[in-house]
Amino acid sequence: MRLHDDLIAQDIGAYLEAHEHKSLLRFITCGSVDDGKSTLIGRMLYDSKMIYEDQLANLEADSKKMGTQGKDIDFALLVDGLAAEREQGITIDVAYRFFSTQKRKFIVADTPGHEQYTRNMATGASTADVAILLIDARRGVLTQTRRHAFITYSLGIRHMVLAINKMDLVNYDKAVFDEITAEFMAFADELGPDLEIEPIPMSALKGDNITAPGGNTPWYSGPSLMEYLETVPVDDARRNAPFRMPVQWVNRPNLDFRGFSGQIVSGTVKPGDRVKTLPSAKESRIARIVTMDGDLEEAMAGQSVTLTLEDEIDCSRGDVIVTAENPPEVSDQFQVRLLWMSERPLLPGRKYIFKIGAKQVRGTINAPKYAIDINTLGDEPARTLELNEFGVTTIALDEPIAFDPYTNIREMGGFVIIDRLNYDTMGMGLVDFALRRASNIHWQELDVDRVGLAEQKGQKPAILWFTGLSGSGKSTIANIVQKRLYAMGRHTFVLDGDNVRHGLNRDLGFTDSDRVENIRRISHVARLMADAGLIVLVSFISPFRSERQMARNLTPEGEFVEIFIDTPLEVAEERDVKGLYKKARAGEIKNFTGIDSPYEPPLNPEIQIGTIEKSAEDSAENILAWLREKGIV
Ligand code: ADX
Repeated sequence: MRLHDDLIAQDIGAYLEAHEHKSLLRFITCGSVDDGKSTLIGRMLYDSKMIYEDQLANLEADSKKMGTQGKDIDFALLVDGLAAEREQGITIDVAYRFFSTQKRKFIVADTPGHEQYTRNMATGASTADVAILLIDARRGVLTQTRRHAFITYSLGIRHMVLAINKMDLVNYDKAVFDEITAEFMAFADELGPDLEIEPIPMSALKGDNITAPGGNTPWYSGPSLMEYLETVPVDDARRNAPFRMPVQWVNRPNLDFRGFSGQIVSGTVKPGDRVKTLPSAKESRIARIVTMDGDLEEAMAGQSVTLTLEDEIDCSRGDVIVTAENPPEVSDQFQVRLLWMSERPLLPGRKYIFKIGAKQVRGTINAPKYAIDINTLGDEPARTLELNEFGVTTIALDEPIAFDPYTNIREMGGFVIIDRLNYDTMGMGLVDFALRRASNIHWQELDVDRVGLAEQKGQKPAILWFTGLSGSGKSTIANIVQKRLYAMGRHTFVLDGDNVRHGLNRDLGFTDSDRVENIRRISHVARLMADAGLIVLVSFISPFRSERQMARNLTPEGEFVEIFIDTPLEVAEERDVKGLYKKARAGEIKNFTGIDSPYEPPLNPEIQIGTIEKSAEDSAENILAWLREKGIV
């Protein structure tokens, strides 16, 4: 097997394993530079003498080539395991270091410790077995320590070392050690009964209790850090879990061969095993397990393989091959725990991309049920989640996916949330369970459909979506267009921001998140009216591209007409028909579009109307001419 450019750290683990029969332990160090993190890692690497230097050199070269050594690495890679995702340019700063001792091999995820780098830590933690929480003995348990413990625990880590460092600076005082330990234990008890904690007094600088017992802590009889890491049981739960393999790509070099490649995330598989492909739920048997070194009689969690099946069944990239004996559930709505990682807060109702396993699906996040206070671990009411906040909510995806709860199989229940327009990583989430309501609501087929309803009115349905600043002239122009259409005998309806906000959307204000919800509801109302056969004129500022795109996606091809009423801010402000700009400038209205709330102009509207030299009548005529030309009216 050759270490391939497009394999990630996980595969390097498999590589190491394939080459020598020592167990592999992945761990993560949490703490800031001041806590002595780099000194500690340096000391471990140095003291373990890196016995397999050749191999290490190779790995380092390879990892450099892959860009994982101290450089930005692609977060998608970690979750998906493939460089094919690299085009998305999502960068997260995690350095993976590899080393090996007589007893074990190690991969350590080293992440920056500042608060805003929680995301890096979470990334490293999602594949680790052990977390080392570094504490400066002089400073004790900090908010950051609790945050790290909470996140690593949530991401599935059940073994933690409380590394109480810099003991040399507190005269190796046992009382200091005991006090910090007691404080942390009280907090950890709240996290969960299945968490094991090993407090170790140490000095990374002086070398006490790192690889060997320190002469300065005669009162301590526990293991040194290395002893602990060499002996802590590696969780083989992944191997004992049912077989799952997300399909990373379909291999079809010729008509006689069709193989499904990916990394086995849990369980074992043998030729002859009955399997299913999900979500299509087609059944077959494993024919062969193909690798570069020849066929295998058995493969297990961590290995990257190509499977062939006995039957030609439907299976493509992003699907999951699973054991037919114990398949996962398939659903499109879930209760999840979310860790928000972006400076831009969660916008409930906005469409995001969800990457889960080898699949990317669009979907929306509902308003959080609650956030979790990391200090007290108590629930707090929340309407959104901000940077580094953790909360519980539900999500609805556009397509069903196969999943296992995160606590059962991390790779089958962990996902990353990505902004649809710029591909920024917004957060990560863990699936708890599927919502039953998903399977209990069916789409009701009606005998009189949208085609019939439109034909009865003798017209084609359409959504004329007017967007622009407040006071740009949207409603005035929409009003004239409607009058003309009415005169032509067309069936129309105008949805106007100021009016709808008096009724259906009375509960919404002008924060980003309320505007997202405002437009989400209106998109659906407009779609329903178009289904009824109407020509709907929608006149909302609708300042965000993302939500206008969502409205477009809801509408059948060709029926959505985006009309940008392109009045510059100075002109709208100068006119100030409702006197709102004046108030906004005086600070009496907050979040006013164009003043202290953004407007994202359309990039490719169907129609763009400059209103400086054009009257509202002429603007309306331009729009009607366009509609006639396209055969819409
Ligand atoms: S949107 O941004 O959510 O699409 P919408 O079109 O519904 O806004 O409502 C905009 C109208 O609300 C404006 O034309 C204006 O009359 C009024 N308004 C009140 N406060 C604000 C504000 N902070 N920002 C923009 N418009 C406001």
